Amino acid sequence: MADQIHLVSFLIHSPINHTIGTWADPGDNRLQAMADVRLWQDLARTLERGKFDGVFFADTPGVFDRYRDRVDEAVRYGVCWPTHDPVVLLSALAAATEHLGLAATISTGANHPYSVVRTLGSLDALSGGRAGWNIVTGHLRGEHRAYGLPELPHDQRYDRADEYMELCYALWSSVGEGAILADKATRQFADPDKVARVRHAGEYFNCETVGPVWPSPQGRPVLFQAGSSGRGQQFAIRHADVVFAVQPNLPGMKKFMDDFRATAAAQGAREPKVSFGVQPILGGTEAEAKAHLKALEERIPIEAALTRISGTLGVDFSAYELDRPLQEIQTQASQGLMKAMASGFGDRPFTLREAAIRYGLAIGIPQIVGTPEQVADQLEQIWRETGCHAFNVTPTVMASSVAAFVDEVVPILQKRGIYRTEYEGRTFRENLHL
Ligand SMILES: Cc1cc2nc3c(=O)[nH]c(=O)nc-3n(C[C@H](O)[C@H](O)[C@H](O)COP(=O)(O)O)c2cc1C
Repeated sequence: MADQIHLVSFLIHSPINHTIGTWADPGDNRLQAMADVRLWQDLARTLERGKFDGVFFADTPGVFDRYRDRVDEAVRYGVCWPTHDPVVLLSALAAATEHLGLAATISTGANHPYSVVRTLGSLDALSGGRAGWNIVTGHLRGEHRAYGLPELPHDQRYDRADEYMELCYALWSSVGEGAILADKATRQFADPDKVARVRHAGEYFNCETVGPVWPSPQGRPVLFQAGSSGRGQQFAIRHADVVFAVQPNLPGMKKFMDDFRATAAAQGAREPKVSFGVQPILGGTEAEAKAHLKALEERIPIEAALTRISGTLGVDFSAYELDRPLQEIQTQASQGLMKAMASGFGDRPFTLREAAIRYGLAIGIPQIVGTPEQVADQLEQIWRETGCHAFNVTPTVMASSVAAFVDEVVPILQKRGIYRTEYEGRTFRENLHL
């Protein structure tokens, strides 16, 4: 277990974060923010005031087109559409902050390794070592269709991603220690003997070059990974600094940690660091918080929720009955999320309606509901009982729910001595205690 809780803000550069319909809330500022980077910069400063380790942008560069095999509902309800580029936004957030880590999801499906190393390396250099990358393999059919790429089967996507990472490591280590001389007297910029040629000819990628970027103050960007199928866990153990996981409740989180620890130990790997997704729903009283959650649920059109769950789980749920219990279904999309969803309430499975609403609220991330004290209690309990490293905290209404968490919950965690009052390090990696 980490010596303190780490917090990462889990966002999307689109009209909503994960909670469908919040863009239409009278108090929500996301629509303005989509066209005004200063509002995002305010948000980043609020998170830095709350000593968050970083921001972490989900990204699905494609449209949710699985439900009814069309895009109409995704477009009608703005279900993570439009989908703006998170890295462009992160460079503006770097300028507004000093400590906040800056992580983006970038799919290995739609981007060449060289581009990812170059783009994130540029962000890492400009921000003084604060870049992070959530490595995903592209579970969304709409992404493959948008880029005109073949949809590879689930495990093959991970095989391809392993090769992808091999090439990234070669590019990251190409510019060796002491390579940059920047000697103004001799006018020699760098020592070519310390810049290794990369010659990669693999099954999926070819690349012949040298590392494209200035060496990072944190070695390389912090690597996150969010796949949690068996093959996904193998990939995570090999590559990830922090694994982002979604489980619907505390027993599910504990089981996930036990299984994942055992898998890592069996492979002789170090103890994995896990960040669980949580969605705080705050109120002045418990009843007020519960009423707030109910109102959020009621504002989610069921068709929009079905669009989200169909896209992520890779199953067109339009042919399923809403009030029948859901079983695990074979999928080539997110097997980890399918498994988490199929575990239901523990004693009984979710019905499709219940699962869809959970997806509409926050892709199955559990809501932590109550007064600030109760929310702090629940976070502390999850942290102590699972030994997780961090939480990916996803907001609801923007930006007020972020400010409420920072102003009302963070001071309680700080008073309990389980959350920082000052940043310890300079880089994202240092602050995450990796
Ligand atoms: C919490 C969580 C967040 C994810 N975020 C994204 C995302 O932003 N973009 C994306 O393309 N895939 C995302 N995924 C999908 C996974 O990275 C992965 O590609 C997918 O779950 C398939 O892997 P699995 O079967 O091993 O779980 C996410 C998955 C999880 C569990």
